[in-house]
Amino acid sequence: MKAWRVHRHANPTKALELDEIDDLEPGPEQVRIAVRSTVLNFNDIDGCYGRYRTVNPPLPYVAGMEVVGVVDAVGAGAEEWLGKRVMTTPDGAMGGYAEQALAGLDMLFEVPESLDDREAAAFFFPFHLSHLSLHERAQLREGESVLIHAAAGGIGSAAVQLAKAAGAKVLATAGSEAKLELCRELGADAVFDYTSGDFSPWVVEQTDGKGVDVVFDTVGGEVTERSWQCIGLNGRHVMVGFSSGIDREDSGFEPRAILFGNFALLGVILVYTRNADAIKQATGWNFMPRSVGDEVEAHLEELLASKTIRPVIGRVVGFDEVPAALEAMEARKTMGRTVVEVQG
Ligand SMILES: NC(=O)c1ccc[n+]([C@@H]2O[C@H](COP(=O)([O-])OP(=O)(O)OC[C@H]3O[C@@H](n4cnc5c(N)ncnc54)[C@H](OP(=O)(O)O)[C@@H]3O)[C@@H](O)[C@H]2O)c1
Repeated sequence: MKAWRVHRHANPTKALELDEIDDLEPGPEQVRIAVRSTVLNFNDIDGCYGRYRTVNPPLPYVAGMEVVGVVDAVGAGAEEWLGKRVMTTPDGAMGGYAEQALAGLDMLFEVPESLDDREAAAFFFPFHLSHLSLHERAQLREGESVLIHAAAGGIGSAAVQLAKAAGAKVLATAGSEAKLELCRELGADAVFDYTSGDFSPWVVEQTDGKGVDVVFDTVGGEVTERSWQCIGLNGRHVMVGFSSGIDREDSGFEPRAILFGNFALLGVILVYTRNADAIKQATGWNFMPRSVGDEVEAHLEELLASKTIRPVIGRVVGFDEVPAALEAMEARKTMGRTVVEVQG
């Protein structure tokens, strides 16, 4: 089978090579997926550079964190999944830029019938992650205000829709007029180009001087620190990602801003597990139980059925275009999700 593998740590077009590698065989409680669509995730760029410590295996490895396809082989204990159309994160959060991927059962979901393969690829990760961020972590309530950064991005575009569906006032930031227009289309109440200046006075003004209730932050760095100037009393800041530079993970924050802000700083990671206690003991991390994933999926399917939310596909590219498409994402040229056609 064909797969894009990271051979060296560099920019995507230098790091990735299209290789012919052996077919995969599923182990116990694992499925093999004949991949139809995969999708760009910002973390794959950090993986190419070797600065994404969560997924940093020995070279070469197959990149790609998300797939949609059909289960064509199963290990013991996964028999019920054979032939099903699924969406998932492959095991180890890698291996998605390939014609086949292996996945365990913790993160495996059937694709809702109403979505085609491309739509499912744009739906799964952004909407689950945004739901966990806004609801399970930030406990967003109707009538509250939410500041969403990189709101025209893959994950941001889902967050805008879910925040609106929850009855919140949505303040969206993004880096160009076309991106702001998309945010408006998705339901944002007010938009701001944060490449043109400091957004924090604008947020304070938009919230009648009080500051915003919830911040949804996939950008990090200076954007995070400026958000603390405009978050309100008892606000909740959800750290979702670091698109402006994952190296900021190491730089630390000024604790004074958090103390004097009287707000809560929250983290979120999209990983469901059926063994939360074992993960806790082995790593110290807290992953969401799979039962939460099932509840989130059920709520999202209701919202899809009522056409309250829709996956946002910015662009569809061919399998041979993965490295160039990742570089377009790195250069902030993408909107919504970039879906990669793998088969059919
Ligand atoms: N917590 C989790 O479980 C989890 C899992 C996967 C991914 N993530 C994170 O979620 C974030 C969003 O991922 P995504 O795949 O949906 O990407 P994305 O938001 O579609 O693309 C990145 C966007 O970030 C914005 N950005 C701001 N500063 C940037 C910079 N210096 N360089 C590049 N882009 C910059 C750009 O939008 P503007 O031009 O509008 O600023 C750009 O279009 C990433 O940080 C990713 O690591 C989190």
